[in-house]
Amino acid sequence: MATHSTACTYVIFGATGNLSRVKLMPALYQLEAAGKLPPGSRILALGRRPWSRQKCIDVVQGWIAEKPADGQNPKVLDAFARRLDYFQCDLDDPAMYDRLRETLRGDNSYPANTIYYMAISPDGFSQVVERLSNARLLSETDGWRRVVVEKPFGYDLKSARALQQAIGNHLREQQIYRIDHYLGKGTVQNVLVFRFANTLMEPLWNRNYIDHIQITHSETLGVGSRAPFYEGTGALRDMIQSHLLQLLTLVAMEPPVSMEAEALRDEKVKVLRSIRPIAPDDVESHAFRAQYSEGIVGGRPVPGYLQETGVAPESSTETYAALKLFVDNWRWRDVPFYLRTGKRMAAQHSLVSICFRHPPQQFFRGTQAGQIRQNWILLGIQPCECLRMEITVKEPGLEMRTRQTSLDASLNQDGDRPNDAYEELLLDVIDGDRSLFLRYDEVERAWGVVDPVLRSWAGERRQIHTYPAGSWGPEESRRLFEKEAHRWRHSLDPETV
Ligand code: BG6
Repeated sequence: MATHSTACTYVIFGATGNLSRVKLMPALYQLEAAGKLPPGSRILALGRRPWSRQKCIDVVQGWIAEKPADGQNPKVLDAFARRLDYFQCDLDDPAMYDRLRETLRGDNSYPANTIYYMAISPDGFSQVVERLSNARLLSETDGWRRVVVEKPFGYDLKSARALQQAIGNHLREQQIYRIDHYLGKGTVQNVLVFRFANTLMEPLWNRNYIDHIQITHSETLGVGSRAPFYEGTGALRDMIQSHLLQLLTLVAMEPPVSMEAEALRDEKVKVLRSIRPIAPDDVESHAFRAQYSEGIVGGRPVPGYLQETGVAPESSTETYAALKLFVDNWRWRDVPFYLRTGKRMAAQHSLVSICFRHPPQQFFRGTQAGQIRQNWILLGIQPCECLRMEITVKEPGLEMRTRQTSLDASLNQDGDRPNDAYEELLLDVIDGDRSLFLRYDEVERAWGVVDPVLRSWAGERRQIHTYPAGSWGPEESRRLFEKEAHRWRHSLDPETV
């Protein structure tokens, strides 16, 4: 049972939508099952659909049942249903916010501490915040008010600034929880533990020993039903500006003064500030984009991006993006960081791969051991949550042959249910812990990193590269590599390096 948190009301805007279905409601249910929701807390689902309370409960229980692996318990379902209520509304109707206030204040089963979760289209954030404020729903006279803002926070640097200004008129920074769900993933947090709870790595964690770093997020899924969102977004904004740059900051940051939110975020911002700006003339050698064409995924033929419903016939939206970045500070100067993401790729995984330098001398060159491979540290984020260190060892036998083996420091046992990132983050909002949420300056700096590329791509007339669905993306992306010997690390498996 949560001991520190006080009861609160979770108001979910867009509660009938996809995010609510696949992430928010199942995560809140899991928090219920773990006894983490403070007693007396309520959940108010807001949506346009004409649902009754019972209809909402039935639908939400159906969503929870869609994740059978998570297990269900009738008692927990019942307790969860008792917290849940439905409020039908049209967000564009200004009078609705007074009605919402009457509902929340007129019924003392709703705790005054309130979280507003914006699971709505990003272009609606500022209007909803303004109207909540006008209806005095953000004032903290009788408890706290917190607003969770989903990504993307803005569309580019300029629009992020405008959004910040708009919501900043009504909210203090401490009330704003900018979510990047990647930070709720267990292995992402493990990057910090691995680095700062072990002294072993620290002497090696720098340009003297590390050759380059790769951060990959690949998916086998296509855009599915999200084309209207994705068409105006693309892979660089959708994944790199947010999730992958966040991962980069955790890998590259200096040890913070403490694990307090501000100390952690100060260090992340320092990394973002140290990233060498990509000059317009360097975009070609630092950024690459492509789009999937038809192909085979999981043995099944799938359409290309241009054939997906809702995609413009001449669309140049990228479904694959890769960047080469340099962090110009004492620790990392001249170490390339390669970031890469794509939809409809050969495999689904997220991986941080750290490649160490060659030993200074190739002692075994004249023997059958031949050229010694570089060491790698692999941080598997998903689906395999693992931490492996690849080293070279001598094979048993009379001959001097070597092979790669890996030291595995993975924690998860078979059968462990990994927590969903949203469980952690939804709970952090209740607890008022902002360390895994983005401060505005982080968001602004991250837009600053990708903005030159976005601008250059927006003005480019050339046809975008394509890659067959089910592949690892175009060969041409190799043009980003600093050294001929560099290549994409696709897998945790040493044989396929
Ligand atoms: C979201 C992106 O933020 O992250 C999606 O909008 C992407 O396009 C998703 O598929 C990936 O996150 P996860 O946790 O599902 O791997």
